[in-house]
Amino acid sequence: MEEETILSYLESHEEIADSGQFAAERGLDHDKVVNVIKSLHGYRYIDVQDIKRETWVLTEEGHTYAVAGSPEMQLFLAIPPEGISREELQKKLDPAIFKIGSSQAAKNKWLDMGKQISRKVQHAEDRVKNVLVQIKDGKDPEAEDVKALKTRKLIAPQIWKGYSVKKGPNYAPKRKKVATDLTRENMQRGDWKDLEFKEYNFCAKGQPAEGGHLHPLLKVSQQLKMIFLQMGFEEMPTNNFVESSFWNFDALFQPQQHPARDSHDTFFLRAPSTTKQLPEDYVERVKEIHESGGYGSRGYAYEWRRDEANKNLLRTHTTAVSSRMLYLLARNPFQSKKYFSIDRVFRNEAVDRTHLAEFHQIEGLVCDRGLTLGDLIGVLHDFFSRLGMSNLRFKPAYNPYTEPSMEIFSYHEGFKKWVEIGNSGMFRPEMLRPMGLPEDVRVIAWGLSLERPTMILYGIDNIRDLFGHKVDLGLIKRNPICRLGIA
Ligand code: PHE
Repeated sequence: MEEETILSYLESHEEIADSGQFAAERGLDHDKVVNVIKSLHGYRYIDVQDIKRETWVLTEEGHTYAVAGSPEMQLFLAIPPEGISREELQKKLDPAIFKIGSSQAAKNKWLDMGKQISRKVQHAEDRVKNVLVQIKDGKDPEAEDVKALKTRKLIAPQIWKGYSVKKGPNYAPKRKKVATDLTRENMQRGDWKDLEFKEYNFCAKGQPAEGGHLHPLLKVSQQLKMIFLQMGFEEMPTNNFVESSFWNFDALFQPQQHPARDSHDTFFLRAPSTTKQLPEDYVERVKEIHESGGYGSRGYAYEWRRDEANKNLLRTHTTAVSSRMLYLLARNPFQSKKYFSIDRVFRNEAVDRTHLAEFHQIEGLVCDRGLTLGDLIGVLHDFFSRLGMSNLRFKPAYNPYTEPSMEIFSYHEGFKKWVEIGNSGMFRPEMLRPMGLPEDVRVIAWGLSLERPTMILYGIDNIRDLFGHKVDLGLIKRNPICRLGIA
């Protein structure tokens, strides 16, 4: 509508001298007129020139007086014909209105200010209000009034922007529709030959790039990492998903017939199916401990097979990393250590609401002379209370590589029951001694999954909503920060 009005006006007129006036005379919204002018100018239908004018707008105070009348008039009207004492008048008015009103009314010589305040004139005109209303309605005030209202801060200047408009080089009384796309229909009808295409706008801004977002698992693991670091733990290098059976099982004194080593529970690699290299002297000592024991142990009394140890697999727990690290530690003069890791592990399990074939483990271990089960319990209390779980219970358990072993339970206030939160134990001498660690060195360790606390923290009850190809990306964008240990 604005576009038609402008183009058809220019057909019979030299120019639109002032877009503001043009809009006002036709009852058009000036902002819309300006938008159309800009667009027509872009296609060079018209030439334009900027016009700037200083206009006035009411301040907030100005607005209130335009409605309620100026303070001097409010004061004037509050004076009864017989006059009133200063105190009485003050009571009737807002303090600011009284203050401004009395000084302005006095200036206007509207008042007799004796003992009593009384009207000096019969009628007064509220010029301030009238001019404010005028300005509000877009009329031009007189210079004198502008000055007065400006000093009273009832109006403020505003730059008005408009245009004068003439025909441009591409002028036409009607805008030609330009095509933005070449369609199949255009091709079929053959009208593409006559179409005028919209030019590319290489300056246009593209779609705003969505910022990166952290997955809840990353947020929780980041927090756990901070907790381990605050407790003085060092991070172990976990960058090998592929591990040999030797480091994943044998070094941990896990017998070769153990059901976990079955292909039902473990993913073995087809290629490369075996490891290239193992430390031979240590392999010998591991074979020895499995077959016939040592260091006070009777061993498992079976024939240990090297080809079984050589098999490559996807590591089933991060304890494989711990075994490598302890072996390295044993090769140097003994130093006590606190290590942790948080990374991915793989198990060939039936997938359900709470299990996937891959998940993340959090593992911590402390290696020092003379550690006891009491130390393990103490460290677990320290660690889990930092996660907001201070109510713990332990239950005897079994792992081939720890003795004693304990499952860790925590009382969940929301679920109102004890939930299993991890597994722990003291590494067996059958594991530590063949590595070459001194006899009095003990290693306490624990492990838990990252998924479980994350699902509890983020209220997710199906693991497929957290991990994998069915995850709603919106969840990743919206999920809140993770604050562990804060109820
Ligand atoms: N590796 C064990 C698991 O997979 C966890 C664990 C770590 C247990 C360290 C004891 C000591 O569940």
